[in-house]
Amino acid sequence: MTERVKILVTQKVPDPAYPLLEAIGDVEANTEEGVIWPYEELLRRGPGHEYIYCLLTDVIDARFLEACIASAPRLRMVANMAVGFNNIDVDAATRLGIAVSNTPGVLSDTTADLAFALLMATARSIPEAERYLRAGKYKGWGPLLFCGAEVHGSTLGLIGAGRIGKIVARRASGFDIKMIYYDVNRLSPEEEASYHLTYMPMDEVLGQADFVSVHTPYMPSTHHLIGEREFHIMKPSAILINTARGPIVDEKALVRALQNKTIASAGLDVFENEPAVEPELLTMEQVVLLPHIASASLKTRTLMATMASDNIVAHYHGQQPPNIVNPEVLK
Ligand code: DGY
Repeated sequence: MTERVKILVTQKVPDPAYPLLEAIGDVEANTEEGVIWPYEELLRRGPGHEYIYCLLTDVIDARFLEACIASAPRLRMVANMAVGFNNIDVDAATRLGIAVSNTPGVLSDTTADLAFALLMATARSIPEAERYLRAGKYKGWGPLLFCGAEVHGSTLGLIGAGRIGKIVARRASGFDIKMIYYDVNRLSPEEEASYHLTYMPMDEVLGQADFVSVHTPYMPSTHHLIGEREFHIMKPSAILINTARGPIVDEKALVRALQNKTIASAGLDVFENEPAVEPELLTMEQVVLLPHIASASLKTRTLMATMASDNIVAHYHGQQPPNIVNPEVLK
């Protein structure tokens, strides 16, 4: 393809992403930092572009995709600047012949770093202790002041041992943590040995772990994978960490489990109805809540941003985008 194309960028992204796109087309971009276009605005702006560069906060559903192929020029590809692509109806895109890409790999280490930071912060009540000190409540060292859970020597249960889960295991191995995992795809014996991971059925992982850290993608089969039943299997002292996707955990059931002391605490970077958070969670001092920042280092976000552009540029040149989600549309 040699003619210039029309490209829509739905949110302000790191600068290096733009020149790559401007080299092949005319870019219409949301330039207001932190502003997420509501669905109706996206629906109004999307049609008339060959390429849509979007974020996990954009709902790219069948209605949107149909509107974008009914227009001229026709939509050819949706490039998500995220590894997760549950915001996109990939089946509809495939049916309509629209390519979809994502940005795997470049954020795995950064996300694993934050998962471990969240585990540490929740175990040792770091945010709560800091709030206490800032509020002027610290009157001196106390033998029982903020006595938290021990991280070293504990058992970490990974639910999902893909790219990110495995790196979390690497982080944890420096803390003499026993590591157990469940994944629908069991790792090879070599990988299990290399990451010091022991496979167990999910209920056994839940029952034995001091920390349960979620690292599965979100899809119909993982919706509410952790709910009422699972919380009852976990130890009363257990801490849940979720840096994957909110709806993998039944958030209302989590609130009940915390209120009833079925489990001890949770560290959450993602929420079921993001950006909304179950109001009860906001009142629980021991729970650590973050605004979906697991991949948020400037270096990683820049790599993600340029990777999304690279996927568009490759498609424009008739090449297979390096991170295509539905390669069957290119056949
Ligand atoms: C992703 O990429 O899916 C993360 O949730 C945000 O970096």
